[in-house]
Amino acid sequence: MAGSDKNIWVIANWKANKNIQEALDWVAKVGPQIPKQNNLKVVVCPTFSVLSEVKKAIQVGNFPMLTGAQDLSPFGVGAYTGEEPAAILKQFVDLAILGHSERRQNFGETDEMVSQKVAQALANNITPLVCVQGKDTPVPDGVKLIAYEPIFAIGTSNPDTPQNASMVAKNFPGKEVLYGGSVTSTNVKAFVQQENVHGVLVGGASLEADEFLRIVKACEEI
Ligand code: 13P
Repeated sequence: MAGSDKNIWVIANWKANKNIQEALDWVAKVGPQIPKQNNLKVVVCPTFSVLSEVKKAIQVGNFPMLTGAQDLSPFGVGAYTGEEPAAILKQFVDLAILGHSERRQNFGETDEMVSQKVAQALANNITPLVCVQGKDTPVPDGVKLIAYEPIFAIGTSNPDTPQNASMVAKNFPGKEVLYGGSVTSTNVKAFVQQENVHGVLVGGASLEADEFLRIVKACEEI
């Protein structure tokens, strides 16, 4: 049982990886091993096309896991070809990662679009998890969950220091702030032990079931 009462989020961002079979194999391995602990929130964020199958597998297995999307449309339902509106996604997800730096860099996502997406998420009871690249990234009203993901740390094996992550987190009082960027089972504990850090957003190290489970188990002991 965790020594602390704070929520600890362990969120797998698969990015553009895993087909349905690979996703189901992962859920079958990870799901039964997740500790049932109220303050430990484990979330998996697959691609849109795999979400419904992952959600079904979690429900059938009755695993203590939530699901998230990696993005959603800034618009509602209607004539927006190729978009995934929150009003439809809410069938499958509890949460949505919004404003990830890979979307800002590769898809021209702006702060304005992020705030439209947050509004869509909130209107549809999807928890927005807004990624910030530092203390100056604007966070739209109504957001309670933030991920601090410095660009230099993403996919580089060069994480920020837990102390700096904690200092950045202090700039967002009243929010739960997670850290993301080269998190592994070896360094995760040092991040979540920081008073202001409420969990981790994990990319590369979330893809392998055993490594992700080691990360979850390290958080269980906090
Ligand atoms: P890595 O864990 O692969 O560095 O990715 C971090 C990230 O972008 C999670 O959203």
